[in-house]
Amino acid sequence: MSTLATAIPKIYDQASDFMPLLGTDYLEFYVSNSKQAAHYYKSALGFQSFAYSGLETGNRDTESYVVSQDKIKFIFTSPLRSGTDVGKHIEKHGDGVKVTALWVPDATVAYEEAVKRGAKPYMAPVREEDDNGYVVRSGIYTYGEVVHIFVERDNYQGLFLPGFQKWETPAYNPPSTGLKFVDHMVGNVELGNMNKWVKFYEEVMGFAQILSFDDKDISTEYTALMSKVMSNGNGRIKFPINEPAEGKKKSQVDEYLEFYEGEGVQHVAMATDNIIETVTQLRDRGVEFLNIPTSYYDLLEARVGKIDEDIEPLKELGILVDRDEEGYLLQIFTKTVQARPTMFFEIIQRKGATSFGKGNFKALFEAIEREQELRGTL
Ligand code: FE2
Repeated sequence: MSTLATAIPKIYDQASDFMPLLGTDYLEFYVSNSKQAAHYYKSALGFQSFAYSGLETGNRDTESYVVSQDKIKFIFTSPLRSGTDVGKHIEKHGDGVKVTALWVPDATVAYEEAVKRGAKPYMAPVREEDDNGYVVRSGIYTYGEVVHIFVERDNYQGLFLPGFQKWETPAYNPPSTGLKFVDHMVGNVELGNMNKWVKFYEEVMGFAQILSFDDKDISTEYTALMSKVMSNGNGRIKFPINEPAEGKKKSQVDEYLEFYEGEGVQHVAMATDNIIETVTQLRDRGVEFLNIPTSYYDLLEARVGKIDEDIEPLKELGILVDRDEEGYLLQIFTKTVQARPTMFFEIIQRKGATSFGKGNFKALFEAIEREQELRGTL
């Protein structure tokens, strides 16, 4: 571990470039009420109205609201009638992430390469166009029913995608909370499946494994899990994958798998340049975070050394700090954000650190266990 700082660029080099990925394009959530979900993301999380697709744009099956904040774009999609794939997905899983869209130079090549290497096809390349040019999209399945859509948009000058119009809300546009981009997105998979998906990201997507945690790193008195972090070549896309490990009680991953009824996205981490300001805003606007006992802060400086921030506001807000060989990071986790105890968000500010807060796992899991206790699912 002591050579992590120098090792990381080297590990990234092991990632192959047959699948060049320029970044995360958007995430699409299937939800039971897209209009109200979009409102929450605006009012509570500081997203801006961006684009819309529905009956008014000729879409007879689904309604989608797109919100944006800096580089982050979220689509919330709901069915307009019974019997749709979107509706069946929501019936089984509740609200959750269906699509992680990746921005690629060539969506046809990305699809063909991925399928040739063993990916299960979701959508063959489709060219969609309007007056502003064209976009090519294709898609493959990853764990559970989650899909990666490849988006090629070099020849498109429009707002978002063909089929979407600008979503204008002149009367209500609450300010941003300073969220900048998706830092990483974590998947929960069934016991025994983690290495299958690690192999998928290596062989099908050309990713490299940059970190690994076992149940000795991630365990409390009661629960345990194992995790491996996969990254693409430029380090912009990081997908940690968790699987449950044997513990005395049901782990948070087990609880997720039970309530999501399968594998899926556990949390999406969004980056900010000023976590104290961002979390103060989010709290004031009604976002609920996991509670961290104040004793966590008693030994903080001894554990992570000197940091730029005052400890007091971190303690008040419940923000966690961890250090690796390259610097430190500040992070905090929301409670789950839909009816089922499944998906949640992480807010992260990196000050050099490229890791994921291993030093906080214990405090974090104990906080999650207290929530599980209340739900009777521990
Ligand atoms: Fe995370």
